[in-house]
Amino acid sequence: MIPLGAAAGIHRWPASLSVAVGLLLAGCGASSEPAPPIHPDFSIAAPELDEVLEQVDAVTAERIRTHSQVFLDLVAQVLAADRSFRVLVDKRHALPQDYVPTDLVALDTYPITTNRTGHRLSRRVMPDLLAMAEAARIDGIELMVSSAYRSFDYQDRLYKRHVDQLGREAADLVSARPGHSQHQLGTAVDFGSISDGYGETANGRWVAQHAWRFGFSLSYPLGATERTGYNYEPWHFRYIGRVGTRLEREFFGGQQQLMLEFLAAWAPWFAARRGAAGP
Ligand code: DAL
Ligand code: ZN
Repeated sequence: MIPLGAAAGIHRWPASLSVAVGLLLAGCGASSEPAPPIHPDFSIAAPELDEVLEQVDAVTAERIRTHSQVFLDLVAQVLAADRSFRVLVDKRHALPQDYVPTDLVALDTYPITTNRTGHRLSRRVMPDLLAMAEAARIDGIELMVSSAYRSFDYQDRLYKRHVDQLGREAADLVSARPGHSQHQLGTAVDFGSISDGYGETANGRWVAQHAWRFGFSLSYPLGATERTGYNYEPWHFRYIGRVGTRLEREFFGGQQQLMLEFLAAWAPWFAARRGAAGP
């Protein structure tokens, strides 16, 4: 059998020719040709993505680096989805006082259990909320919505009541200041009893396990107070869409705050490089 090297004739090249070819190839690599895009939906080359990842925590950066195709697929879908699903509303980022979702619907007109009449949510949330309630029912669990859309003024009254009862410092761990509540988006839902024990009930466990499949994300997980600014709230879920919860689970360790902070910082960068890769 002819050795591969012999067949290709490589070992017969004079050493000087090998060096010359080597230099030529090295020269090609160092030319001003831009590095190719790594995903068809974005004009982003590997070195550019690396520059972004240098500014991200090491665990997240490694996940993104090793699964960059899946990551960019999901980012493209998140960018194409409703912006209200990813807007950061937290201790430091407020909604305008007059922000009211334009598509609020009354839950009383839908087949979903509530703790009282009059709750409203953004229509965008409803198909997946109803699908989740249906899936829970099949498993013998009846979901109950206990809080939904809250106006700026309602949140103002609620926060003041907490301050009166607990003092400002303790109130800030359990209640958002007006403008800073995800409930003003019309896409956040409190389920069940709104109490610490909810997470240990069959109902709370079902929601914790399955909500992500329907685009609902736990906003204030156990042990995340330093990051979110709030105590553990096993009942409070924000709708970020099914693609959003996939991105959150696969790349941000299920931490909504971490993912929304990342998107707030980098979504414009990705959006500016979207769709520019192809002819
Ligand atoms: N309890 C949450 C933080 C809110 O008031 O929106
Ligand atoms: Zn809530």
